[in-house]
Amino acid sequence: MTLQTTNDHPQTPNLSGGEILKEIARLIQIAKLYEDNNKLIIDAVEAFKQAVKKSSNGSESVSLQMFNGRFFLQEEKVPLLRKDAQIFNQMLQFLERRSIYGFYFDADLKNTPTKEILAFVRLLNLAVQHDDPSEWLKKELEKSDIHWLSVMQKSTLTLDEESMDSETESFEGLERKKEAAKKTYNYALTSVKEVAEKLLSGKETGIRKSVRTVQRMVDIIIEDDTTFFSLSTIRVYDDYTFIHSLNVALLAMSLGKQIGMKRKTLEKLGLCGLLHDLGKIKIPKQILNKKGKLNDSEFEEIKNHSVNSAKLILKLKTDKFRKADLFVSPFEHHVRYDHSGYPSVNKRHPISLFGRILTIVDVYDAITSPRIYRPTSMSPDKALDLMLSDSGKHFDPVLLKVFINMLGVYPIGTLLRLDTGEMGLTLDSSQKTDQTRPKVQLLNPSANNQYKKGNIIDLAECDPSTGNYKRNIIKTQHPATLGIQPASYIL
Ligand SMILES: [Fe+2]
Ligand SMILES: [Fe+2]
Repeated sequence: MTLQTTNDHPQTPNLSGGEILKEIARLIQIAKLYEDNNKLIIDAVEAFKQAVKKSSNGSESVSLQMFNGRFFLQEEKVPLLRKDAQIFNQMLQFLERRSIYGFYFDADLKNTPTKEILAFVRLLNLAVQHDDPSEWLKKELEKSDIHWLSVMQKSTLTLDEESMDSETESFEGLERKKEAAKKTYNYALTSVKEVAEKLLSGKETGIRKSVRTVQRMVDIIIEDDTTFFSLSTIRVYDDYTFIHSLNVALLAMSLGKQIGMKRKTLEKLGLCGLLHDLGKIKIPKQILNKKGKLNDSEFEEIKNHSVNSAKLILKLKTDKFRKADLFVSPFEHHVRYDHSGYPSVNKRHPISLFGRILTIVDVYDAITSPRIYRPTSMSPDKALDLMLSDSGKHFDPVLLKVFINMLGVYPIGTLLRLDTGEMGLTLDSSQKTDQTRPKVQLLNPSANNQYKKGNIIDLAECDPSTGNYKRNIIKTQHPATLGIQPASYIL
């Protein structure tokens, strides 16, 4: 690959893109020549740490990625100076050979041992000898417990050429994406649980893992959010609060993407989603899972959770700017569009955009989830109907409209009963012209009240002899009523 060079000067001096690339390139070379305890190598590691810190520009992490023959640092194109062209070219080729498209680094590597940084560089060098170098590197980093960086296997920056490629994507590519999404989902679940558990036991905690998780989720959502919609149909009783938090984050980010939010904003919104119900850790389980009606004092306790979420976020060990971004919408997520709800706020207080988004996705996920005290729940299409009747009162009408359009008439994972006696789960219908006739994964009854995957059919399909639709929907039902976990059939 060749590069066009220019004599531009960097517009943002703090974003020393050239510097971080040079330090990585230097480390790669030096690591081939010297042992870990060599003075040169120790100096190179220090210089690398400083370059990462400087590039962070105050954020907790640094993203460095390549796209279309250029490097982007924190999403900004790295200005290409003539004097750096050789290193740029070398690094492009080095990373391309390893199918690596970039990295996320923790900004603060002060306490990261030199040997861990060198282990990463040595693995990076070795990766080229393996069939799937970036996947191999990812696994090796996990094995070595190296968590201060993650590898991008595909560029998260999109241009038109990229979207054309996705049309012809292979089946294996899709499977790989699904696997990556599942892993990210599970990783996100652990990250939010860890934060909650530490806070509960009175320990200090930061949110680095959650930040990285959200960055990965944004990668996937920007590319295609169907897989995450499928994952958001996972419903289990035990981990309700955590799964709910994760679903809220996913749905909020997808809604944010629909209204054109940029990557950094989506990351912040995702974190707000993950942390919005943090205040619930203080509520006793007997109250959270109570089957009957709550008495006044119990209800008061529940009502405190959004304020407590905000307070706990302010206690997190992370920089004050991040906290300022994060605490408002969790505080507001039960304040309705007409300012009713809780906690009571001044009518003149404008509810933030994040707050209005969280309110919508929070209610949707809550009413479509079966709970211990309410084993059945509303099917997704009925939930949307109900929410629509509260548009302009409980919910921001414009955002609600976008949300409904995004999910489609029969949101993914809705259980449909058909006039042929068949039954199945809606697959993604948001891209179809006629959303009332989605594609369906048929489910065939098998032994012990279980169901097996049948064919995938299209409800828009007509019988050529009569011109009538082959199948019609009679009714919808919540999958939980039949003990069905949609995610296990549609993923
Ligand atoms: Fe809540
Ligand atoms: Fe919630």
